[in-house]
Amino acid sequence: LITRAFRSQFVIPDFQDFIKDIEEIYWTAKSNTDGKVASYIPQLARASPENWGVSVCTIDGQRFSIGDVTVPFTLQSCSKPLTYAMALETLGSDVVHKYIGTEPSGRNFNELVLDYNMKPHNPMINAGAILVCALLKTLDKPEMTLAEKFDYVMSFFSRLAGHELLSFNNAVFLSEREAADRNYALGFYMREHKCYPEKTNLRECMDFYFQCCSMEANCDIMSIMAATLANGGICPITDEKVLRPDSVRNVLSLMHSCGMYDYSGQFAFKVGLPAKSGVSGAMLIVVPNVMGICTWSPPLDPLGNSCRGLQFCEDLIMRFNFHKY
Ligand code: DON
Repeated sequence: LITRAFRSQFVIPDFQDFIKDIEEIYWTAKSNTDGKVASYIPQLARASPENWGVSVCTIDGQRFSIGDVTVPFTLQSCSKPLTYAMALETLGSDVVHKYIGTEPSGRNFNELVLDYNMKPHNPMINAGAILVCALLKTLDKPEMTLAEKFDYVMSFFSRLAGHELLSFNNAVFLSEREAADRNYALGFYMREHKCYPEKTNLRECMDFYFQCCSMEANCDIMSIMAATLANGGICPITDEKVLRPDSVRNVLSLMHSCGMYDYSGQFAFKVGLPAKSGVSGAMLIVVPNVMGICTWSPPLDPLGNSCRGLQFCEDLIMRFNFHKY
């Protein structure tokens, strides 16, 4: 880092100017009071609509944060690209996609629907993510107990984040499990259609899915994960190779086409960057070969995306030519 600094060889050489723009975008979005905090479980309903944080981490480790960047939130659906990445890494793309498609569903994230091959459409929606959890539990190190698997996944996530420690919100986990009629319906519907590998223990896999949704991080930590994805799978903070480039390519492709719920097409059109949002109001945004960004603000629009997060992305693209095309 220091050598590059002396040679002015950073991917964003004028980082101080860049920060000024990020600050302006941050403050403009702060006054946006649109949206509603998720209310399907009390733990999420209690989140303050005021919370608003943005963290940036470049592929060469320059970092900037503003706002509520150390307040923990649950990963929720932002865990989906991470478990998918882990499955690609440990099982390989062919195995994963024997079970899960790569097509946007065009439907709600928790809709009771499979594709024409009777597979979940993609790993970014609930059906696909539940199946990813089943693959991780049943095919990757099958001898591990659920407790061991939880630790194994958590430490993989933390390697993506430069060994920052993630935590776990047990109240959210218990609530998710209580309020999960639709997810159970999806789980059993997939079992009816023989979507899982042999020997899958569905109840364990459902718990595992709720646990992944209930892991906690903050904007600072998540921006490092996004930066690892931006950097071809090498964590810019530790230089550790966490993911193969082909795994990263698959993850980013599906974040691009399926990461923003039913807004994914419009987001790809307007913003042109791979991203993933979750009901806690978090958003992972990847600018390939440049940086990772995490935004967090709990109020969501009717499609489930963070209102301030979306405004941030649209503003960013007005100022910088990060749109892929
Ligand atoms: O499965 C659920 O309903 C939540 N725990 C995850 C929700 C989420 O962020 C929506 N995702 N696509």
